[in-house]
Amino acid sequence: MSESRKEYKRITVKTLIEMKQRGEKISMLTAYDYSMAKIVDAANVDVILVGDSASNTMAGHETTLPITLDQMIYHASSVIRAVQRALVVVDIPFGCYQSDPKLALRSAIRIMKESGAHAVKMEGGEEIKDSVKRILNAGIPVMGHLGLTPQSIYKFGTYTVRAREEEEAKKLIDDARLLEKLGCFAVVLEKIPASLTKKVTEKLAIPTIGIGAGMHADGQVLVIHDLLGMTHEFSPRFLRRYMNLYDEMSQAIGQYVADVKSKDFPSQEEQY
Ligand code: KIV
Repeated sequence: MSESRKEYKRITVKTLIEMKQRGEKISMLTAYDYSMAKIVDAANVDVILVGDSASNTMAGHETTLPITLDQMIYHASSVIRAVQRALVVVDIPFGCYQSDPKLALRSAIRIMKESGAHAVKMEGGEEIKDSVKRILNAGIPVMGHLGLTPQSIYKFGTYTVRAREEEEAKKLIDDARLLEKLGCFAVVLEKIPASLTKKVTEKLAIPTIGIGAGMHADGQVLVIHDLLGMTHEFSPRFLRRYMNLYDEMSQAIGQYVADVKSKDFPSQEEQY
């Protein structure tokens, strides 16, 4: 496949499939607010995910389960106001699609209508196929999510690598094929062996986006707080930190406190 890169004015679900066909890797990052989304979009990230990881990064919860549909819509509408180029995908939160396709469609419609997002993301395969179908039938693009699906963390019990065993790997391949057949435009593969990602990626015409899934995925996604080094406590092997923003911010804020206390700030020039 070619390594060539094309300039795109606006990324659509079709663009992502075109990128896979051209052999151009897809970049995806999370954002949850206007200011961060503006920077991420200006840096030409192809897909912005308003992830339910907002539950952890923005609200301080231990898991993604507590975040509500209203809260996701609030984050998504803030992001949408900032974005000119990227495709914006929003997680449907836990409890808003698993139990009933009608509820799933209502949740997806609320996200699209109230935030202006371009697509939704859902965790799971066979178990949620009726919900996925119902949403796709309404004309709403769906991104799948397989492997370590954080909304099922209490079923898994740990955040370790998924689908190492043959049975689970086979189910993941079947689920990925099913999601493609139903009409999903891409699938996130989280924390699975690189060799399995390669197999899935080769079998699908739609792009795979990996997180902790190795180099063979058609694209990569990270949580922005992790990439920028705003979090210290989370340090999995797959994470590449591009900054140590926690330390840089602590230093800057510490300096501000010291300047206020010492009466260095504000100076003559900084007052009216
Ligand atoms: O919510 C999220 O940030 C995600 C990514 C980890 C893919 O689903």
